[in-house]
Amino acid sequence: MSIILIGFMGAGKSTIAKRLGKEVVDLDQLIESRIGMPIADFFAEFSELEFRKVENEIFQEVIEKDWIIATGGGIVENEKNRTALAAHSQVVYLTSDFDTLWQRIINDDLSNRPLAQDKTKAKDLFEQRQKYYEAVADLVVEVAQKSPEEIVAEIQNKWRNE
Ligand code: S3P
Repeated sequence: MSIILIGFMGAGKSTIAKRLGKEVVDLDQLIESRIGMPIADFFAEFSELEFRKVENEIFQEVIEKDWIIATGGGIVENEKNRTALAAHSQVVYLTSDFDTLWQRIINDDLSNRPLAQDKTKAKDLFEQRQKYYEAVADLVVEVAQKSPEEIVAEIQNKWRNE
């Protein structure tokens, strides 16, 4: 089963991916090991554009494999990534309202989230990206008020019943 988790920062993509199976790729972690520095440092030193290039390259490599993939919230910024996601049949969009996500983001480590330094800007990004996430999703899961176990069960049920 190859499942790709998408959604905004704070949606729980990495947490849910780890619970869904054994062969898991966390794209942000893979990028950090490839670039040899925290994502925030890479943004500061080389720019977001360079980050998106690396992200796209690594995503195209891992999408071929039969793994569970936790993407970064900005994976849909790149048109090639959107095309690849649209062609994939097990894309799960973990979604919630912005305030819930923002609370989770600020309670978390910000070292790989340079785009979460300013609430207004983050909210604009959240709003701009909704249409992209929705367009490529095969399953949309609302995550607020749910335990990781409930979210995992919802995802597993979807493909078990088909
Ligand atoms: C980003 C989200 C981050 C990380 C990078 C850019 C974004 O991943 O890839 O900071 O553009 O939304 P998470 O969604 O795992 O926090």
